[in-house]
Amino acid sequence: MTESLVLKGQILTFSDDPFAVGPEAAVTHHSDGAVWIEDGLIRAVGAKPEVLSQAQGASIVDHGNCLITAGFVDCHAHYPQLPIIASYGTQLLEWLEKYTFPIESTFGNTTYSREVADFFLEECLRNGITTSCVYATVHPESVDAFFEASIARGLRMACGKVLMDRNAPEALTDTEQSGYDQTKALIEKWHGVGRNVYAISPRFALTSTPAQLEVAGALWREHPGTLMQTHLSENPKEINWVAELFPDAPDYFGVYETFGLSGPGAIFGHAIYLTKRERTAIRDSGSAIAHCPTSNTFIGSGLFDMEGLRDIDQPVSVGLATDVAGGTSLSMFATMRSAYEVAQLKGYSLHPAKAWYLATVGSARAMRLEDRIGNLAPGMEADIAVIDLTSTPLIERRMAGAESLWDALFAQIILADDRAVRSVYVAGNSVKST
Ligand code: GUN
Ligand code: ZN
Repeated sequence: MTESLVLKGQILTFSDDPFAVGPEAAVTHHSDGAVWIEDGLIRAVGAKPEVLSQAQGASIVDHGNCLITAGFVDCHAHYPQLPIIASYGTQLLEWLEKYTFPIESTFGNTTYSREVADFFLEECLRNGITTSCVYATVHPESVDAFFEASIARGLRMACGKVLMDRNAPEALTDTEQSGYDQTKALIEKWHGVGRNVYAISPRFALTSTPAQLEVAGALWREHPGTLMQTHLSENPKEINWVAELFPDAPDYFGVYETFGLSGPGAIFGHAIYLTKRERTAIRDSGSAIAHCPTSNTFIGSGLFDMEGLRDIDQPVSVGLATDVAGGTSLSMFATMRSAYEVAQLKGYSLHPAKAWYLATVGSARAMRLEDRIGNLAPGMEADIAVIDLTSTPLIERRMAGAESLWDALFAQIILADDRAVRSVYVAGNSVKST
């Protein structure tokens, strides 16, 4: 890939964290800007005349008044659950038993896994999501299928085989030994191949014995470049059960700490009900939280404390996530909108710059990929979403009264869907264009 390409349009980048320095200081906006891409990487970003003067001979795509931003990053999703999205009437533990485990049981079949993985990735791209941190199922075949589908599209994706050796149907359990052997083989097969990243994935404390959590910790120590993902404090019944199973742990997060499952590169899904000690311990360890708002409302889990975790002097690392298919949408607009609504119900208004940050840089940081994806800057990978700011009559009407960039971004967050994603570039290659 040697093509040299310039995209013209409005440009949105982050020079800092809007929670820390405020939206004005954190966001750079060029209303007449350009991005220069070469060999899949960004060479320059900024005002159009300056970028064009450097990019002699490049081909040019004019995106007019559209907003060019980093592709969205979803730091927690379950691709095998896509077929049961929008399943009625349960909360977490019943939902897992009634809908989730039965569908996950079907992913020992490579052809079926690949078909769903392809569908999932196409949905991601339609919605401008260019990187996700994904759970497969307990079956190694489900990981092979996902990474093959990712490589076929040149994507930067993270995925891992779910580890479960108790409190799940027999068809979905592995053992301490098979979980170790299969995970190790999958890391050797896929981590760092193409743009793929392996994520060691003990499902949660309820479905792994202490021995298996020990194994997960050992695997992570042996492969420190991989990610580690699991679930934490999503639902009160779940939390009570964890306390029964691990009576010696100080709290739920303490279970994971005991087994070496915390630190930079550890991503904890949900984290709604945290004690003060857990908040401090998560922050001090450098672990990250995946906030999954559409899931938290849909399966009735609870309201995430964005203000208490992010809008403070020493914040916790947080990324935004769809959690498909506890979550109800692969649209990052729907996910940002839900994050806004959940925060509102807690008496806190999530600024559009902060929501956009969480959906790009925040999730990339959670995945330790902030130097590669989630923002537009020289040297970073050219995964890009181009957003039509007037994609529906209603948005167009609302935009007529928009007085600032923040109004414009907020209108997208509240009103936009996949129709707003006009073009998507993966490593500089156009994969969606409408
Ligand atoms: N906790 C353990 N497994 C899951 C899952 O698949 N989805 C959600 N939302 N929570 C979980
Ligand atoms: Zn999940």
